[in-house]
Amino acid sequence: MRVRRCRVLYIEPREEVEFDLADVLRGGDGLASRMRWLALAPHLGREVELDARERELLGRLSAERWVDRATLDEDARKALPRLLREGLVLGSGKRHAAMREREEALREVHWDPLAATMHAFTRWEDADAVRSMEDTGTVTIEEVRELFGAPPPEVPVPGDDALLELPRAARGAFDALLSRRVTCRNFDAGRPLPRALFAQVLERVFAAHGKMEVAGDTVFLKKNCPSGGGLHPVEAYLLVQNVEGLAPGLYHYHPVRHALRPLPPPGLPLAGVALEAVARQHWFANAHAMAILAPRYDRHFWKYRRHPKGLRVVTLEAGHLSQLLYLAATDAGLAAYITAAINEQPLERALGLDPLREGVLAVCGFGWRAATMETMELDPAAAVWQP
Ligand SMILES: Cc1cc2nc3c(=O)[nH]c(=O)nc-3n(C[C@H](O)[C@H](O)[C@H](O)COP(=O)(O)O)c2cc1C
Repeated sequence: MRVRRCRVLYIEPREEVEFDLADVLRGGDGLASRMRWLALAPHLGREVELDARERELLGRLSAERWVDRATLDEDARKALPRLLREGLVLGSGKRHAAMREREEALREVHWDPLAATMHAFTRWEDADAVRSMEDTGTVTIEEVRELFGAPPPEVPVPGDDALLELPRAARGAFDALLSRRVTCRNFDAGRPLPRALFAQVLERVFAAHGKMEVAGDTVFLKKNCPSGGGLHPVEAYLLVQNVEGLAPGLYHYHPVRHALRPLPPPGLPLAGVALEAVARQHWFANAHAMAILAPRYDRHFWKYRRHPKGLRVVTLEAGHLSQLLYLAATDAGLAAYITAAINEQPLERALGLDPLREGVLAVCGFGWRAATMETMELDPAAAVWQP
């Protein structure tokens, strides 16, 4: 059998420090520290601890040229089986085909190595954002301030002396719309969202209203949001809970046809999928509809190959879509939110996505705002909530 190393791999020396009472009793500082070497490989998406022999072999094997296992020295042959099992080294045999294909998928999509690693290691499985705030005593902003001290000032200007005043514009309908944009954490689950309003938001945010054909197989869409390279890689999946005339479930939005493709049921109750999606932030979970923003990395990196700014561009694009969604919803008399505190992994499984090619980046919800505020919203000018 022939072997080679996976192409993208970072090795981190990690120090874990724990309190050790016995050490205090012995007159020490009470800190026990343990050093570990961890391999971070994005095609695996999980850390693998390494010993010295394994580290040494990973530093010697080529990621581009296959070598015959028989040519390796004894130390290397001892380290090899576990590295093959873990997928840090790939084998040419049938037994290693699944791992090899996974690693080749990463190569085919042309990920920048650092971006791929960040992407792979920041995807959550079962995070609970509410419990995490409770456990760390950071539920209210007063608690956060108490714990961390005051933040850097809200405006980073040392003094007012040298300021050149600018004229203020006359307030118009656009300003009124902007001031009514308040992140919604209180949805009225008892009031179904009319299908026409739901469709109006989707059309304004995600629909294509023109296209340019470079060749039969190379088409650029024109939409209301800007897009790096005009590629529009961010897909919209919908988790619909409460829209008139639409069965609750998962859908994919077709931006040219302005139509929904129903997806197979997720196999779990939809309300549970929604709650997990937003990392159990219950104030977001009962939105009438969630637009799940999922970039097609393979489309974006088709042009921006191994590009250090590629992931940044896609992330910025999700932000543009979110702001447009906020405004489209507000204009329709609805309310919206965005969150990146999401459990990508169960969502991707429910949507049938391979995160190396197309992964979930953020969730935007929208629907009717409730009449009473249970969870805090930021509306100091009382544009939405009357005092
Ligand atoms: C990228 C992004 C992620 C956010 N994630 C969360 C979140 O996880 N939970 C939440 O309650 N609000 C979230 N928000 C909303 C912000 O808390 C909100 O924008 C901020 O408090 C200002 O309020 P406003 O949007 O009403 O002006 C997020 C906003 C942005 C732009």
